[in-house]
Amino acid sequence: MYLFRGLVAWAVMMAGESGLAMIRTLLLAPAVGDFRARQIGFFVGAALIFGVACLLIRWIGAKARGRLLAVGLMWAALTLLFEIGVGRLALGLTGEQLRERLREDYDPSGGGLMGVGLVVLALSPWAARRLRRPTRSGVGLTRSPTAGSVAGGRAATVAADPRAVSETDYPGAGSASEKLGFLLNYAVLAPSSHNTQPWLFRPAGDWVEVLADRTRSLPIADPDGRALVISCGAALGNLRVALRRFGHCGEERDFPDDRQPDLLARVGLGDRHPTTAGDVALFDALPRRRTNRRAFDPRPVPDELLRALVAAAADDGVWVQVVSGEDRRAAVAELVAEGDVAQASDQSFRRELAAWMRPNWSRRRDGMPGYAHGLGAVSSLLGPVVIRTFDWGRGRAAADRRLSLGSPALAVLGTDGDGPEDWLAAGRALATVLLRARAGGVDASFLNQPIEVPGLRARLRALLGTPGHPQLLVRMGYGPAVRATPRRPVSEVTLPGGGRGAGRSG
Ligand SMILES: Cc1cc2nc3c(=O)[nH]c(=O)nc-3n(C[C@H](O)[C@H](O)[C@H](O)COP(=O)(O)O)c2cc1C
Repeated sequence: MYLFRGLVAWAVMMAGESGLAMIRTLLLAPAVGDFRARQIGFFVGAALIFGVACLLIRWIGAKARGRLLAVGLMWAALTLLFEIGVGRLALGLTGEQLRERLREDYDPSGGGLMGVGLVVLALSPWAARRLRRPTRSGVGLTRSPTAGSVAGGRAATVAADPRAVSETDYPGAGSASEKLGFLLNYAVLAPSSHNTQPWLFRPAGDWVEVLADRTRSLPIADPDGRALVISCGAALGNLRVALRRFGHCGEERDFPDDRQPDLLARVGLGDRHPTTAGDVALFDALPRRRTNRRAFDPRPVPDELLRALVAAAADDGVWVQVVSGEDRRAAVAELVAEGDVAQASDQSFRRELAAWMRPNWSRRRDGMPGYAHGLGAVSSLLGPVVIRTFDWGRGRAAADRRLSLGSPALAVLGTDGDGPEDWLAAGRALATVLLRARAGGVDASFLNQPIEVPGLRARLRALLGTPGHPQLLVRMGYGPAVRATPRRPVSEVTLPGGGRGAGRSG
């Protein structure tokens, strides 16, 4: 059925293209010349094809990549046949005349861009489908159907986009469950590897449970789920900041049930907490924090702020080592570059990374839009194809070496142990470190390659001279403003509630 509908869509396109060809020949070519007219005609024609593809792709009904490509290849083949058929039958061209005509159409030096046009045709069903894919990116787990499963009521109704939530909507007179549900809007603003947002929340009486969503793991870049748990820890760190802002100490039980290893923590409101100016500053930084991958000013990060970051992480049992001395910084930059080369040479790593990259205009609420990596609209569409296909390690290595050396501060967050409890603590500390930095006007981004590539992690450890385990490598400084990345709404990451009093079993 989808091939038949694809055929109908192609007929619509050809009708449009024939009209355009007439306009081009009769009106445009006399005015601007044949060469110019062919080039303008190509872009208008490509836009028409893509527009029709976008309009009809849902109706056509092809979803799997193979089917989308099949429709595209059918369009390209039919177009070629159409061109030959029109030449031979409708215009009565001889074989030689037809060859000449095809040469004109397919020779780019003469303005003939039809070859590119066929590629556009072949890829447009796939591109149109990506553009028009429904925004929900559910992963097969049962999600609560409405934005009110945890909080219910007023607070949750404003939370279709967590970034649109205002603190004035806090349900101060509401139940513990409503308050926690509201505060989850801040938890989900946490950073996560590849913006996978690998967390799930489950209401449990006056508590909320935080679970790892293993369906969002990165088996190649993160085979042990270390970064996944760190990301969930960062969500817990954000939640703690939000709790304190609204006058709650927060009460947490990590890994409360041995039978459920993916149940990472249970969180309750805890005792009353007198909110301080520092709490408010961290909270205000929540929606303003972003991973900033641009080059930073050479202006140094104040020592006082770096000391505050070290102290904040220590409260969670996590150490921060600021890499000092030009030699050691250069050695770390070299490890980052080696990590880039190693990762990019692995096709499965590239494929996994590309799968989480999104065009700038994507309506999906997870993954990394091209703009987060400094890509413009067109490059963001081609980016995943390039990332998947080519070994870009050397280029990335050179860029990251420059970024590492040019960053005013390089810091490693680490833990004494290297198990899930340590990863969770590292994530919690990471959230505080990034928010404290942001509150001080300082941006940060990650250079985790030497930690992700097993052989390099030991070398980084030796370089730092620490018996502990490096978990994250961040660079800090003052960068230009960058756009925020999307987040899935709380409703989409909330499971149906567990039993009352679940917090007591830990
Ligand atoms: C555990 C962890 C590892 C990460 N690793 C990298 C990394 O190696 N390179 C990078 O550019 N960003 C890395 N990030 C940043 C994420 O890509 C980023 O948080 C995500 O895309 C969401 O964007 P945001 O931080 O601007 O909200 C990491 C984040 C976390 C929490």
